[in-house]
Amino acid sequence: MAFSQISFSSLGDRAKPPTIARLMALMLENPGLLSLAAGFTDNQTLPVAAVKAAVDALAAQSGEPQYLQYGTNQGRLGLRSLLADRLLNQEPTLRADADRIKESFFITNGSQQALYLAMQVLCDPGDIVLVDRPSYFVFLEMLTGLGVQARSLPLDAAGRIDGPALRALLAAMRARGELSRLKAVYFVSYFSNPSARSLDEAEKNAVAEALTAEGAVVPVVEDAAYRELYYESPNAARSVLSLPAWEAFPRLYLSTLTKPFASGLKVGYGTCTDAGLLAKMMHVRGHHDFGTANFTQAILEQVLADGGLDRQLAVIRPAYLRKMRALHAALTEAGLPELGWRWQVPEGGLYLWLEAPPAFDTGVDSAFCRACVEAGVLYVPGELCFGDDAPRNFVRLSFGVLSEKDLAEAGRRFAAVARRLA
Ligand SMILES: Cc1ncc(COP(=O)(O)O)c(C=O)c1O
Repeated sequence: MAFSQISFSSLGDRAKPPTIARLMALMLENPGLLSLAAGFTDNQTLPVAAVKAAVDALAAQSGEPQYLQYGTNQGRLGLRSLLADRLLNQEPTLRADADRIKESFFITNGSQQALYLAMQVLCDPGDIVLVDRPSYFVFLEMLTGLGVQARSLPLDAAGRIDGPALRALLAAMRARGELSRLKAVYFVSYFSNPSARSLDEAEKNAVAEALTAEGAVVPVVEDAAYRELYYESPNAARSVLSLPAWEAFPRLYLSTLTKPFASGLKVGYGTCTDAGLLAKMMHVRGHHDFGTANFTQAILEQVLADGGLDRQLAVIRPAYLRKMRALHAALTEAGLPELGWRWQVPEGGLYLWLEAPPAFDTGVDSAFCRACVEAGVLYVPGELCFGDDAPRNFVRLSFGVLSEKDLAEAGRRFAAVARRLA
């Protein structure tokens, strides 16, 4: 295919191939490679029967098949209502505000679309967004693509968000004349991608209090993509929707049905406490696609109404726990901790977040990364997951896709390379 001399927009000019695409290409070029890189979900447990039952039920309905017609920009009322009820059950304190929550519920093509809509309506090139450290690397790449700078929320020695350090950061931003360019704060708060960590209420409150004290009451985007993907018990922290410290802030809460049900259906959802922000997002959404596929939404509405999501979660929660344990055990038994590598054992989600000794380089162009590919195992270099000041000694391993047997083999390969290059 020929490349012509097109004069692109500044957005087109900034658009670069995502790093994950490079890693995926490596995978295709190297058959036999075991990938711990892609954040895909488990194929074996995908809910084929539940989807078939939902489609059959839709086809058996009398009347016009409206589910095969265009739907609305904001999404199917029935699905929005069922998802809002789930959220109200997770956070009963929100029930006092149930009508407003329901009214402001919306459906998107994955939560990724909602993230993009939010950043599109909030940020211009040169603006700044505060992000968790580490953060979701596709979101970080999106910010780069939009010409927006990411600044990390500072952490204390224990790795928790450091409120006083955040205040100092905000004050320094003000002194440099940057605070007016701060447009939002973003964090992945439950079983995070990549760190598997959940933020507790004190940490969320610390962010709100620092922003309030520095007069930076900007929209907050809480990404709860993995909230339902706990292994044994939910994380007890309330979201920004319920926490009084966040009351004065425009709050956008996002989640998805891709992780807990089927990534191939690509349906996400959210709710927003600010009518103006929601309206702007929906206006731009009208320019994108004016609505998520009605049929896909109708299938999910049927599944939710029938209890199918909870049945699916009852299957995948223990399955991901077993997978996590298989990879954790393989890395442990192969002696990675003795080599100075550290990680927390997750209580949910799809990732192990490994910290190598400080001088050990795991970066995209490192000898370690190349040696891992040669040894037949792929990972996501942790350096991609930092908004700024990226350390090069972290690794994200995803255990969503591979079988327990392959996870054990991939873990052994990874640890063997780590030992060889130690
Ligand atoms: C933290 C986080 N947020 C959002 C998304 C987007 O997911 P989706 O668009 O499939 O809902 C992902 C996908 O991996 C994710 O890890």
